[in-house]
Amino acid sequence: MESSIRDMHDIENKVARLVEKMTLEEKIGQLCLLNCSEKQATASFRERLIAGQIGGILNQVNIDTVEELQRIAMSESRLGIPLLVGRDVIHGFKTIFPIPLGQAATWNPDLIERTARVAAIEAIRAGINWTYAPMLDIARDPRWGRVAESLGEDPYLTSKLGAAMVRGFQGEDLSHPLSIAACAKHFAGYGASESGRDYNSTNIPPNELRNVHLPPFKAAIEAGVASIMTSFSDLDGIPATANEFLLRRVLREDWEFDGMVVSDWGSVSQLQVHGLTVDDRESALRAATAGVDMEMASETYADHLATLVSEGEVSVDHVNEMVANVLRLKYRLGLFNGSNLKKRKFLNAVSSDSLAVAKEAALESVVLLTNNNKILPMNKRKLSSIAVIGPMADESYEQLGTWIFDGDPDRSQTPLASLSRYVKDVTTITHAAGLSSARSSDTAEFAQAVEVAEKADIVLLFVGEDAILSGEAHCRADISLPGAQEQLIEEISATGTPVVLIVMTGRPLALECVVSKVDAMLCAWHPGNMAGPAIIDLLFGEQSPSGKLPVTFPRVTGQVPIYYAHRNTGRPPTRDSIIDLEGIESGAPQHSFGDTSFYLDTDYRPLFPFGYGLSYAQFRYDNIEVSASRVALGDRFTVSAQLTNDGDVEATEIVQLYVRDLAGSLTRPVKELRGFQRLRLKPKQTVTVSFELSTDDLAFYGPAQKLVTEPGQFHVWIGGSSTTDLRAEFEISASS
Ligand code: GLC
Repeated sequence: MESSIRDMHDIENKVARLVEKMTLEEKIGQLCLLNCSEKQATASFRERLIAGQIGGILNQVNIDTVEELQRIAMSESRLGIPLLVGRDVIHGFKTIFPIPLGQAATWNPDLIERTARVAAIEAIRAGINWTYAPMLDIARDPRWGRVAESLGEDPYLTSKLGAAMVRGFQGEDLSHPLSIAACAKHFAGYGASESGRDYNSTNIPPNELRNVHLPPFKAAIEAGVASIMTSFSDLDGIPATANEFLLRRVLREDWEFDGMVVSDWGSVSQLQVHGLTVDDRESALRAATAGVDMEMASETYADHLATLVSEGEVSVDHVNEMVANVLRLKYRLGLFNGSNLKKRKFLNAVSSDSLAVAKEAALESVVLLTNNNKILPMNKRKLSSIAVIGPMADESYEQLGTWIFDGDPDRSQTPLASLSRYVKDVTTITHAAGLSSARSSDTAEFAQAVEVAEKADIVLLFVGEDAILSGEAHCRADISLPGAQEQLIEEISATGTPVVLIVMTGRPLALECVVSKVDAMLCAWHPGNMAGPAIIDLLFGEQSPSGKLPVTFPRVTGQVPIYYAHRNTGRPPTRDSIIDLEGIESGAPQHSFGDTSFYLDTDYRPLFPFGYGLSYAQFRYDNIEVSASRVALGDRFTVSAQLTNDGDVEATEIVQLYVRDLAGSLTRPVKELRGFQRLRLKPKQTVTVSFELSTDDLAFYGPAQKLVTEPGQFHVWIGGSSTTDLRAEFEISASS
């Protein structure tokens, strides 16, 4: 602790001394983050480096170019200030792990820390020292393409997993040669983009902003995240990139964040497009005043900040504060002793260790959704022929998912290839894609696929979304299976051969119409390089699936947004069956179905709820207990239950704890996740699982925008899904 305080003071002194030496032009140069592809690294770009007009570059991954540009910045400019070198290392660099939404399905912070660690080490090999991850936007609308990059719909789970990613990227010591700076994004509320359309407006009530969208960013800051990226989105009429409430009041005053704030790509210049400013000059003024230190890609700071200072609209002190935030990050990263750059230059190879971590992550990310008559796991000695069908069975690129700039499909192992290796000569494999891609509607190859299915003992049917159908700007108004996949499933199902459906996707899909057509279903997300080995191991029971949904699966798109931590309403739905619209008698009385919050044409409940996932074991929960039926504010207490594996295989269960505040100064969600544990049980084993809570864990931002725990009655649940009904009650009293 002593040394770290000393180091902090040492850095502050260095920053202050360097700022004193800098001209205004050099200061503004540090606030400029420019894209630097190979063709942009021109002579004029190098001239700007020498003039000290560039503080960072992004999207340059040729280590020789990076070293050349760093050399110029550090030896040919007047002050020798090194560059930040940024890249979107979102779920792997060379080795590609499951998309973040898939990694979230592992509910495994330790594993996620390791995937980020591997990614950091691989990125460093290209000279990268800053990644634009973790993405911490709470995503409750799966039409939004960026749900793929998120850690799901829940603030508590996103907080725990996002903090783990920060630790993985940054390591114990940011100045270590194998550490890179993380960047929590997109601050804030981006996941609430209206209609699930990217970059769209967000309208978020203050308490929902504080209770739902902000906690993961606070957790990232508590984990030491080095930087924050502002969102493209307009929050209640003031875009996040010019939002003083977010960037000053919350980030700097409430949370005392001392890291660096970077805009998103062009989000400063886009303030004019939003209609907040009249020109780039005003955009620069609004962003700088609000608290954006570094401008990514656009150049309003480079073009207008000096004038704004000379005209007294932005003070030199304010610019010095912005520059200090950038320099502090560079000192913390140890960039000034450029020697560590050399240590970073080693082979771009992907080690077998990194592929082992990728397989582990893929194994734990897969969620078993249905398993009728325990058709899974399969036994290859009992199967003479397996038909592999579907457009996602052998797609080494598509299985990687979105945001894989530097990933290598040649390193992918697909399910078809892995199956061939797994069954070798024991079982005959036949293959028919049926569709040329997941988005194809050309059914010309259906007949061949049907023929292959008819001759097989079982069909493994791989469907889902191509990688391009999720990710930034790739939103879908209809989240059913794209192309003619539903029809393919229908025709394969009609052969009568048992069907195991494996869905590879960047988002929850509306799958109600296919569930009854198949004998088992797994969601594998976009699993990354090791999709094949992981999925095949799970299908044949080398491991039991353990994944749990980090996001709700709707039945149909029309239910969206749908999420478990909703408020109760004054008329919660009571109907658990849908109505046959055609069967409604003419003249049926207006209130004949009961006036509650349900749909006439669809079950109001999700298809698969948050926290859900099956196992090859059978887990049973009993005897929930609270250590005290009445606790005083500030007290700690324990909630426990018994967990039994009634099955005949050893497996891992993700035990979840949910709470509810029955009456508050604001209406509170019907359930909120407040704890989870991964437990591995042998067959017939029973364990007691305990969670220690404090009344602070039940705090929320009330109408006064203050974090409070209010006395009153509470429910608490423990179970293997957000629909658990194993419940206990307790009371929080104002005083002991
Ligand atoms: C993109 C994304 C952001 C990313 C940045 C740099 O538009 O919104 O998440 O980090 O630009 O690529």
